[in-house]
Amino acid sequence: MVAEASRRDFLRSVGITGGAGMLYSAMGALGLAPVPDARAEEYRAPQSGDFALTGRSGRKVVILGGGIAGLATAYELGKAGYDCRILEAKDRPGGRNWTVRDGTTLTDLDGRTQTGSFSKGQYMNAGPARLPQSHVTLEYCRELGVPLQVFTNQNANAYIYHENSAALAGKAIRWRTAKADVYGYVSELLAKATDQGALDTELTAADKERLIAFLQNFGAIKGKADGFAYTGSDRRGYSVEPGAAFEEGTVLGPVPSLSDVVASGVGQRFSFEFGYDQAMLMFQPVGGMDAIPYALARAIGQGRITYGARATEVKDLQDGAEVTYEDAEGRTRTQRADFVVAAIPPMVMARVKHNLGAGITAALKYPVATPVGKIGLEYRSRWWETDEHIYGGITPTDMDLSTIWYPSYGYQGRRGTLIGYYNFGANAVAYSELPHAQRVGRAVSQGVKIHGDKYRTELDHSFSVAWHRTPHIEGGWVGWPSQSGPEYALLNKPAGHVYFAGDWLSHVIAWQHGAFTSARKVVTDIHERVMAG
Ligand code: ALA
Repeated sequence: MVAEASRRDFLRSVGITGGAGMLYSAMGALGLAPVPDARAEEYRAPQSGDFALTGRSGRKVVILGGGIAGLATAYELGKAGYDCRILEAKDRPGGRNWTVRDGTTLTDLDGRTQTGSFSKGQYMNAGPARLPQSHVTLEYCRELGVPLQVFTNQNANAYIYHENSAALAGKAIRWRTAKADVYGYVSELLAKATDQGALDTELTAADKERLIAFLQNFGAIKGKADGFAYTGSDRRGYSVEPGAAFEEGTVLGPVPSLSDVVASGVGQRFSFEFGYDQAMLMFQPVGGMDAIPYALARAIGQGRITYGARATEVKDLQDGAEVTYEDAEGRTRTQRADFVVAAIPPMVMARVKHNLGAGITAALKYPVATPVGKIGLEYRSRWWETDEHIYGGITPTDMDLSTIWYPSYGYQGRRGTLIGYYNFGANAVAYSELPHAQRVGRAVSQGVKIHGDKYRTELDHSFSVAWHRTPHIEGGWVGWPSQSGPEYALLNKPAGHVYFAGDWLSHVIAWQHGAFTSARKVVTDIHERVMAG
């Protein structure tokens, strides 16, 4: 047991030598701080009180980029009174966290301009659109007062659509139906194999009995007398819904053969919903994902963010760093600071002139940008709800549109906005090469195969984004050939007084959680340095 006085000494010493994050961990280890989970133990926001009696104070920090990482850096350092300035090349905060509404415009790197003309209340989240429960993003929503609602990532009533499969091609199959058949047939096979003794080296008699009981429940299969057969069940859904009086309903049929179900490939879709990051429940901010960056910008103070400011040079100096940038009027300006945090995509930062060494440029060029595209389709009616009973969720396909998303807001309203494609890699490149009108045409001609003519006739307005062709962003996210090599390690360290932050410097790439946690790391590093300096 640690005595009271030595406990205080211990905390003071780690506070001074190890900094805020370590102090908090140590308090947790001693049972002095609430430690609800590992994440809280890892991060403690800097506070102005940290400087009490130290003779030190928050320094000036210039941050390149007003995306989530840049905003979070300013927000967190601001808690301890650091003088943070964000230089953002666009005219809004958020970076890839971007909600497109009426009046939103985009001029891409190919010089094509689109203007959103969505109806009141209609929007598309062009970037991030779903938040897992484990992500720190939810903590920021709580702290900033951003209200959340459920985002339906998986819906038993949505479809799976494969047009290139070896069986059942071109048939839109409901998730519930696909699951009933795959679970049913797999259960039948495993029950038979178990009962016939094929697994006797693995299983005791009691194990076998319990496993078969599980499979009967899991797959809705028949008993031993009927050979554990899967012959369908109401889990598939109904062609005639059960109802009043004598209407028992008609279970959807016919049940495809085992061979066809396997050949259809539908079973390959289920792992999506088991994914750590993609499992339900998921959440979204009410009214659009950009509620997060706007709330951060308000908390930081709009006066601390300069929009239309494009960094052209970063110089590390003996006792600080300096950024040269071009402002919205095209004038060249410089900002001097104690520290600079570059929170812009690596491929963009790689082109900013600097004196940080050739190794830094090479490391910035090492991760590879992923092409990503998305289209929002506003419809005059919510036919997916009224005609098909789909209230949110996603239909995966093997077509180049990849997935169709049904909105998780505005249920039962007059209008609604689908995501008509959300694709990556070669598919995203193929769409991005087309002008917007042709992108819509291509996406709609595919959606019609699943949903029929209304997919074309009810369409009112659309807006598409190709992130890899978007100025100042140039990719949906990046992939590292290796995150255990010297490049990743180099950029996770400061280059003199210059730090790097972003989801690309995390193991949670393509999620705001990665940007927030990377910002927290840099904030902790800077604060520890200032406290120790
Ligand atoms: N986080 C991104 C998504 O959920 C990749 O689609």
